[in-house]
Amino acid sequence: MPLIYLCGVKSDCNSQKIFSGFWFIYWFITKCRTPLLHFCFYIVCTFDHHKHKCMKTKADVNLVKNFISEKDFSDIEPLVQKAREMLLGKTGSGAEFTGWVNLPSSLLENKDILNKIEATCHRVSTFNPDLIVVIGIGGSYLGARAVYDALSPSIGHRKPEMIFAGHQLDSAYHAMLMDYLKERNPVIVVISKSGTTTEPAIAFRLIRTLMEEKYGSDAAQRIIAVTDEKKGALRTLAVAKGYETYIIPDDIGGRFSVLTPVGLLPLALCGFSIQDLLNGAAECQKELTTNHTLANNQAMLYAAIRQLLYRQGKHIELQSTFCPKLSTLSEWWKQLFGESEGKELKGIFPASLVFTTDLHSMGQFVQDGNRVLFETFLSVAKPEKDIEIPVLNSNDDELLYLEGKQMSYVNHKAEEATRFAHAQGGVPVVALEMENLTEFSLGEIMYFFEFSCALSAYIQGVNPFDQPGVEAYKQKMFELLGKNNK
Ligand code: PA5
Repeated sequence: MPLIYLCGVKSDCNSQKIFSGFWFIYWFITKCRTPLLHFCFYIVCTFDHHKHKCMKTKADVNLVKNFISEKDFSDIEPLVQKAREMLLGKTGSGAEFTGWVNLPSSLLENKDILNKIEATCHRVSTFNPDLIVVIGIGGSYLGARAVYDALSPSIGHRKPEMIFAGHQLDSAYHAMLMDYLKERNPVIVVISKSGTTTEPAIAFRLIRTLMEEKYGSDAAQRIIAVTDEKKGALRTLAVAKGYETYIIPDDIGGRFSVLTPVGLLPLALCGFSIQDLLNGAAECQKELTTNHTLANNQAMLYAAIRQLLYRQGKHIELQSTFCPKLSTLSEWWKQLFGESEGKELKGIFPASLVFTTDLHSMGQFVQDGNRVLFETFLSVAKPEKDIEIPVLNSNDDELLYLEGKQMSYVNHKAEEATRFAHAQGGVPVVALEMENLTEFSLGEIMYFFEFSCALSAYIQGVNPFDQPGVEAYKQKMFELLGKNNK
């Protein structure tokens, strides 16, 4: 039964295994005769390092069998295993960019980078900065922003605050940013692997000019460059101006770089625990690099489901969350999967929604529109804070039935109802659940997505680590801007 192996969890989590087994037997006896018209597949990957130190999966296979059969899983498993072997054995295309695979454990073993980051934080703290400006685009800013947004207050600002520049070319934004910087006490982290990307290069020219006007020769102390070890305009500039620098390893591409100084340095400067982030990622690394079946490797399972659905014409994956603070993580995920898989006229288009907000805009399409979608719910088991709906003993607002209930309870029920409704509407549903919003959980899920993405792209038959299509707009833009005339 695929159900049994899909319910299987990590071998060092026996209590969860037993629980999952009983859960399935109970569920099967009570529910399996329910006529189900549509597919629903429900995985819960719980990242609970305090209790279990592993990911848990619960899979509802009676619901999955309308879309993915036991035979489908058995047929694809060898392909997924091969993809995993290609990744770990460095025999697949783009193998020279797989330095991220062992990165979490190696950074924790050899602490040179962590020590250097700590020293930088200490040095910079003497300025008492209230603002960290991260200049970068794509993989050079999205990871840090995803963690920052997930762990910062939804209303009001963290101190130091992190803001971004060079992630687009909006003139009004950058003009306002200059005014903002004049009033603040900033430290600048400029990030570009190639060192030549136009958007961050323009933003950096603006910002360093302002910094030099404001701080004179001391400006260089407040600027840190993260770039290639040897090449690129940013490296040349950093050497000429005497900025402190960090290296982006040659074997790690932009969208896989969140756990290099690209993500670690700005996050540490803002006071986040990068040690916990790496611990979470290392925990996941251990699990995914050790286990090699669909039954015990959640990334293999997620990659298999994606590719099986893709073959059935489900060409759009929606990442949906009921936790708005995860919306930037979805942006990071979109880049990771979109840039890794969308090539050679192939690929699953990654899109994202924030519920319940988007249920009042895109919900209609998901429920009833073109059936090219499948949906991955990303949720958090334990809310950061909760609030009770006031008990007024009144039904004036027709909310008597909810008074005294926690708002998180209502949100969870809304999520449960949405998964069910969308599944009934013919949208395959996958659910990934983080235990809480912490650095550890974020490190874990980010590594999980990186690993799944590489496997999924290999199964699809493309190089996960290149992005040839990104060049087309640049060539045209340079032509229109007359770059080669100077
Ligand atoms: O994933 C990628 O490689 C891209 O998104 C890059 O991160 C992005 O284009 C920025 O490139 P660079 O860091 O060279 O400025």
